[in-house]
Amino acid sequence: MADLDDVQETRNYYTDIPQRSEPFFLKGSNALDWGMQNRLSRIFNPKSGKTVMLAFDHGYFQGPTTGLERIDINILPLVPYADTLMLTRGILRSNIPPSANNSIVLRASGGPSILKELSNEEVAVSIEDSIRLNVSAMAVQVFIGGENEKQSVINMTKLVDQGTRYGIPTLAVTAVGKEMTRDAKYFRLATRMCAELGAHYIKTYYVEKDFDTVTSCCPVPIVIAGGKKLPELDALKMAYNAIQQGAAGVDMGRNIFQSEAPVAMIQAVRAVVHENETPEKALDLYNTIKNSK
Ligand code: R5P
Repeated sequence: MADLDDVQETRNYYTDIPQRSEPFFLKGSNALDWGMQNRLSRIFNPKSGKTVMLAFDHGYFQGPTTGLERIDINILPLVPYADTLMLTRGILRSNIPPSANNSIVLRASGGPSILKELSNEEVAVSIEDSIRLNVSAMAVQVFIGGENEKQSVINMTKLVDQGTRYGIPTLAVTAVGKEMTRDAKYFRLATRMCAELGAHYIKTYYVEKDFDTVTSCCPVPIVIAGGKKLPELDALKMAYNAIQQGAAGVDMGRNIFQSEAPVAMIQAVRAVVHENETPEKALDLYNTIKNSK
């Protein structure tokens, strides 16, 4: 029985102070349900509004990619520095300790290998398994202009519908095949289509010219992929420029795990993303950490 002795009568109802009602910090996400916003807050840091996602899902279509031969050796040392891990359920279950506190963005589409037509993907994870794995978002490749454009768009809308039922956001990843143009006009089309059809945030590539037009007309947050391995300073410049032009973070793989010093590189990327550090100062940080080992 509850203890009823000495119940105090004086209470302060603060009748003169309106209840706090703060807008959600992420662009275009105010109308989402609590669970959806809570999961997005595990991906994007509410203080900076940004995220450093470490992408190492490349094996889902190309096998043991350079730098990902042994996830336990190559990737686990980076985990403490990532806000979010983007990976497949196979690698999550086999290599990532459940005690890791990172948010998880689960690769939820797949099918073809690099030996086949890559756009021929389907949804490859059930919503039940996404829930079981306690993921913060599901990621799906969308091939605008690709051979299986419509199929990939429908994969995305299916995941959006399933995820909405349970409060799990969907990340649309705009894929670029070898034959597709990588310019702002193309990415405006691809990112806007994904957002209009329900994706909660979008991953795309940085382009030198007019990237700010891609972020400005996309109604939900955009993060950039790293793309092929660049010299460290160039990769940091790309991340810096993307953030200054409206990106809400990076989902970077090869430019971190293929770096000469991946643990130093991910910390340099964090400084650019979360602290607006300049690429030159972030490179100094990279060299300091690298040389301290
Ligand atoms: C590729 O399809 C994968 O989804 C990667 O997650 C993505 O490309 C980001 O990795 P990277 O920075 O190596 O391009």
